[in-house]
Amino acid sequence: MITGLHQKVMGAFSRHFGGVPTWVARAPGRVNLIGEHTDYNEGFVMPLAIDRQILIALRKRDDGKIVMHSLDFENTLELVPSQLREPGNDGWGEYVKGVVRALQQADYEVCGWEGVMAGDIPRGAGLSSSAALELAVAKACAVASDMPWDPVHMALIGQKAENEWVGMQCGIMDQMISACGREGHALLIDCRTFETTPVPLPENTAIAVMDTGTRRGLVDSAYNERRRQCEEAAGVFGKAVLRDVTMANLNVQKAQLTDLQYRRAKHVIGENQRVLDAMAAMQRQDAGALGQLMVSSHESLRDDFEVSSPELNAIVSCAMAHSGCFGARMTGAGFGGCAVALIDINASHDFLRAVALQYQ
Ligand code: GLA
Repeated sequence: MITGLHQKVMGAFSRHFGGVPTWVARAPGRVNLIGEHTDYNEGFVMPLAIDRQILIALRKRDDGKIVMHSLDFENTLELVPSQLREPGNDGWGEYVKGVVRALQQADYEVCGWEGVMAGDIPRGAGLSSSAALELAVAKACAVASDMPWDPVHMALIGQKAENEWVGMQCGIMDQMISACGREGHALLIDCRTFETTPVPLPENTAIAVMDTGTRRGLVDSAYNERRRQCEEAAGVFGKAVLRDVTMANLNVQKAQLTDLQYRRAKHVIGENQRVLDAMAAMQRQDAGALGQLMVSSHESLRDDFEVSSPELNAIVSCAMAHSGCFGARMTGAGFGGCAVALIDINASHDFLRAVALQYQ
């Protein structure tokens, strides 16, 4: 489909490099319906790819260099794949370098290309603009270098770039959904086996993404800290990850955990179950039950995992006050950014208007 964004990168490519691009690589952002902070515990998540994306119009180059111009950041990155040594301070360029490096470490030969990139995913809003950038760059490298495209493998490449080059210890959810999302469906992902199951939304429902307008700094350090706390809690049970601890185990050994460890573990173990219950609710077209699970997820993230914010709590309350809303919760890592709601499709216009007004 030719979109405004598509025309924008095509036109800019001609102005920037002359001639026409050979390919347009594309990767979407995501919103997570349910299953938060479970992926790095090898648990379950249920995100959806959204209609916001990153596009790169590109053409092969003969000198082996990658030259990439970002329309959104208004600057150009130039790199020689074989000369990448260590991360620097190139902002978005570090994600590009990280992906190229991870591809090389996986023994792919990365050829040179030139491209123009643009996107419409709000940055820092919890809609995975970084994962979309990683996957779009991986696709650009794959077409220019004639690599086979295995979506799960490429998702792992994106995650490795982020973990090892950028230094954010993210799980696999964002890259997996950007690589494997399916139109009209949420995707149940087992983050241990990488098995995916597309699940359609209940009939007559829509997903609303609500941006609080807040962007929090220090998210990375708080995120890495949560991850460590989960590992410590799992360690009390002699396990590497909380996927292998049951709610019954947790309650029996409660006295051996600090209150903080208990609450972190309770969130993760409960959230894994909520994702499985959400899938069952969707399969029986039960929007009410799915909405309730989303609300419980929000409460658990707010009270036990402590990654919500006053603005996220406020926008979720505004959403829940509307009669067309089945359920709402914060989405993504937290601390700011977006919330997600499951709504009656016939109420969508009124819902968006009412929530925007009330949240203001
Ligand atoms: C960020 C990370 C994901 C996931 C979520 C929280 O989006 O990139 O891997 O952990 O936070 O669910």
